[in-house]
Amino acid sequence: MKKYRFLDEYGTFYLDNPESTNILYFPLANESGVMSCVTPYLGGDSKIGQDYFWLEPVSIENLHNNRSTRNFWVNIEGYGPWSATGVSARQQLKVFSKDKEETVLEAGILWHRMTRYNKDVKIKATVTSFVPCSKDTVELMEVVISNLGSGDLKFTATAAVPIYGRSADNIRDHRHVTSLLHRIKTVDNGVIVNPTLKFDERGHRKNEVLYGFFGSADGVNITGFYPTVAEFIGDGGNFEHPEAILTDHVKPVPSGYAVNGYEAMGGIRFEEICLKPGEEKAFYLVLGYGNDEKELIYTAEKYLSKAGFHKALGESKEYWKSRVNIKFETGNKEFDNWMYWVTFQPILRRIYGCSFLPHHDYGKGGRGWRDLWQDCLALLIMNPAGVREMILNNFGGVRIDGTNATIIGTKPGEFIADRNNITRVWMDHGVWPLITTKLYIEQTGDIEILLEEKEYFKDAQIYRSDKKDLDWDPEQGSLLRTKDGEVYKGSILEHILLQNLTAFYDVGEHNHIRLRGADWNDALDMAKERGESVAFTALYAGNLSDLADLIDYLTEKTDIKAVNIAKEIEMLLNFDPEHYDDVNKKKEVLNAYNQQCQSYISGEKKAVDCRELSDALRRMSEWIKTHIRKKEWITNSDGYSWFNGYYDNNGRQVEGDAPSGVRLMLTGQVFTVMSGTATDEQIHKIIEAVDKYLYDEKVGGYRLNTDFKELKTDLGRMFGFAYGHKENGAVFSHMAVMYAYALYKRNFVRAGFKAIESLFRHLSNFEKSKAYPGITEYINDKGEGMYHYLTGSASWLLLTVLTQMYGIKGSYGNLMLGPKLLKEQFDDEKKASVSFTFSNKKFKVTYYNKNNKEYGDYKISEIALDGKNLSGLIQIDKDLIERLDSEKVHHIEVWLI
Ligand code: G1P
Repeated sequence: MKKYRFLDEYGTFYLDNPESTNILYFPLANESGVMSCVTPYLGGDSKIGQDYFWLEPVSIENLHNNRSTRNFWVNIEGYGPWSATGVSARQQLKVFSKDKEETVLEAGILWHRMTRYNKDVKIKATVTSFVPCSKDTVELMEVVISNLGSGDLKFTATAAVPIYGRSADNIRDHRHVTSLLHRIKTVDNGVIVNPTLKFDERGHRKNEVLYGFFGSADGVNITGFYPTVAEFIGDGGNFEHPEAILTDHVKPVPSGYAVNGYEAMGGIRFEEICLKPGEEKAFYLVLGYGNDEKELIYTAEKYLSKAGFHKALGESKEYWKSRVNIKFETGNKEFDNWMYWVTFQPILRRIYGCSFLPHHDYGKGGRGWRDLWQDCLALLIMNPAGVREMILNNFGGVRIDGTNATIIGTKPGEFIADRNNITRVWMDHGVWPLITTKLYIEQTGDIEILLEEKEYFKDAQIYRSDKKDLDWDPEQGSLLRTKDGEVYKGSILEHILLQNLTAFYDVGEHNHIRLRGADWNDALDMAKERGESVAFTALYAGNLSDLADLIDYLTEKTDIKAVNIAKEIEMLLNFDPEHYDDVNKKKEVLNAYNQQCQSYISGEKKAVDCRELSDALRRMSEWIKTHIRKKEWITNSDGYSWFNGYYDNNGRQVEGDAPSGVRLMLTGQVFTVMSGTATDEQIHKIIEAVDKYLYDEKVGGYRLNTDFKELKTDLGRMFGFAYGHKENGAVFSHMAVMYAYALYKRNFVRAGFKAIESLFRHLSNFEKSKAYPGITEYINDKGEGMYHYLTGSASWLLLTVLTQMYGIKGSYGNLMLGPKLLKEQFDDEKKASVSFTFSNKKFKVTYYNKNNKEYGDYKISEIALDGKNLSGLIQIDKDLIERLDSEKVHHIEVWLI
């Protein structure tokens, strides 16, 4: 059975024969912009952005199709050429035979080591790859060749990595023409490519990024270079069978050679060496990006030695360890190590965005609005410094009509006006900012953030993108102004109010919020006119009451009795509750509001009494919940009940019995549970229905929906996907984890655990999931984990395990402890711990369950902080936390009886 083994507590793992699984890739990156990925054959790519790919860009199918890898050839006397990375025609022929070379992968957070052994010559190659955590934009490789035989091993080594050196767009568009831009030269220890232009027919620009490949080995001279692909592979050859390696017809060129206008090659030939039995030789290689030649060479040289390479490797390992500052210790070491990777994943998504790994072959970097906010959840838990700023910046993307910018720039808080007529509103977008801001306030107690002022985003889209503002002049910039031309600012509270209030009025014919472009499920994108998302209507209801709670807390904490908001918003608050049932009246209100703020806003503010405000929000919230309970609770012919989550573009309820079978979607259950719309009694029923129709152990748990067996063009493209894949009925981790979160939140702990446990069991079973440790975006029909690393589910899983399962969370800056761990989650000594940072202080909480009790039967009897009993408390007060030493780890011991 194929299985990885963890080697420590920091996610380091070991896997035999990884190249016998096709879809594996591993991220290597730093925070200075390098985004690489490597496969077991040292394939994959490397880039610092859409326009700057060092290696040819790859998407998943290229991983087996592309011969442009980071190859390292060893031409062995008496045997012939051998690839240290396994990428030679001769080695490839053996992969299905008993002569397949033995290989092993050892990898940890952002380092990757492949070892390959050839028993014919008794040669071993160990290739270690990583990207240093420094500001340098380089990827590094160490290739150690060892002689494990009993005789001398004589060989000539050649590093051979093709340099693509241009934009991903040119992979098909002007691939050849862009090679004509290449200015290639050889220097003492490598090959440098300096393309003249960044090719773009809309306007070519001067290129400013150089690509260099450098090598060195202690005491071994470089005898020459192969700077072009054509010369290296030769006529009739290819990268697995290159003429320069297989024959001695192609002579390497010396340093100082220049050649222009060809596909470039990082080919470095070393002089012949001889290893005695037991001896080894290390070669150091750098794939570097730079803005000028000198700087590029200088940077590379730092890493071209054993000392330089290993110092950087050690520092990088320590650095990433310090970034992953949450560590779980349950009774299951596999789970703890797997969670270590999950905890790291949100950092990866910050670096790569939602693009730039082989499955993520869309987008050009950056993240969408909802991902931006949800990734903040994990950040808040791991590294809260700077999150306040980030939250404030992000609110700058909200439009005055409650929608938001969809194009997000690269700088913090930069939103780009849409000038291309793409008018799309995702109806869920307004819901996420409050969820993140609420967690921020709970963790820090910083309720005053609600009173901070921020601008609004402005572009041509008005009336929630139903109309274009013909008066908008792009030259005036993308900030909302008053009639007098002043930039308008409103409080964060006002921004949140607008996002949630406008949604309340933006209803379809069944009085649920319109689906518009789609909701969380991007693939529900074909019901723009009449579609409604009951699922997210429920979540907005939860938001409205949460916001009411925050406002109450604001008045309690600060004595503020009234808040100033734009006078236009008053009409959204004063709407007569008698008319909540009236769809047309709601539309009229929204229309009137939109009319008032289409091009400008008056700038006048109105003081609103906080108590009245929170009462109004609670009224709306309650109305929605009751409405959904009354209208959307369905019971099918088999006697199962759940909530209908959607209306299609023909205005029809989507879920329930259908001639083709039962139609049930998980999303509608998740958010009715999470928001408090579903009653406890209904949750019991939901769990039964979901277990019956969506649970499938062989694919890791809860599917996103049942098989509709219909190409529902009145709902979305998801029905075009084969069933069991991605948004059509796969186990979609994000929703499965949010299901767990919702259940834990409502204290349905056993059911919540089941959702997480099934995902973990499946994904950590390599034989089935074919995935390295961590959570993948989804699990397909065959049980394979798909779209590795970059998924919002990681943030939610971290949040669920820490704040729900371990019950460790902020309560307005105080630290609350309320474990929901099951009996089997405690270790042999009946304890479970977690290390984490809260309020800039380091903590380790240990729960002792000496009497081996089940959740529900135990309660907290005592808490001690650093050995001192805190009698009668179930939380650690903010003031006490503030006085603690920031350097040391503080131990909180909690006894359960
Ligand atoms: C991805 C997207 C997310 C979207 C989801 C469903 O999920 O990033 O915005 O809501 O697909 O369409 P993720 O990979 O983040 O879990």
